[in-house]
Amino acid sequence: MKIKNKDKNIVLIGFMGSGKTSVGKRLSLVLKREFIDTDDFIEKREGMTINEIFKEKGEEEFRKIERELYKRFSTPKKKIIATGGGVIKNSANIANLKKGGVIVYLKSSPEKIAQNLKFDNTRPILQVDDKEAKIRELLAQREPFYNKYAEITIDVSNYDIDHTVDKIIELAKV
Ligand code: S3P
Repeated sequence: MKIKNKDKNIVLIGFMGSGKTSVGKRLSLVLKREFIDTDDFIEKREGMTINEIFKEKGEEEFRKIERELYKRFSTPKKKIIATGGGVIKNSANIANLKKGGVIVYLKSSPEKIAQNLKFDNTRPILQVDDKEAKIRELLAQREPFYNKYAEITIDVSNYDIDHTVDKIIELAKV
């Protein structure tokens, strides 16, 4: 039987700094649904920050922890899930999330992302001399995958959180 969107999770994907967490939190307030931020979830469970996990265990181990976690979110439970920007690095992650959710891509421009992350030091892979160049390079690699996996795409570069939330509710028919 086909699962209705209103019973599915809403899964937010997109690059770091595109607003998945802020939009997810607002969406959960408006729809009165549970919100999960997967990075937060991992930090609490491991008792370490993402920076510490990358430094002490390495990126490979972080991706493994992520993969295990996404398996747990493969059933439709009306949750709002903000994923990490690297979710698209493994197609099994998306396959699991798709089983229980509708995948919404928050698409942002490199300029807007760089602006949002100007003073951020919580993303280990952006701790480089030229942050904006790294954002452009990674975004160019990842954009085709975000596009490929998205069921709904919302360009958030020029919109505020409220508008994005309204758009998700309208397009996802939740
Ligand atoms: C990552 C994105 C981060 C976090 C980690 C790696 C990535 O999540 O999972 O730093 O590879 O894009 P956000 O997208 O929530 O910043």
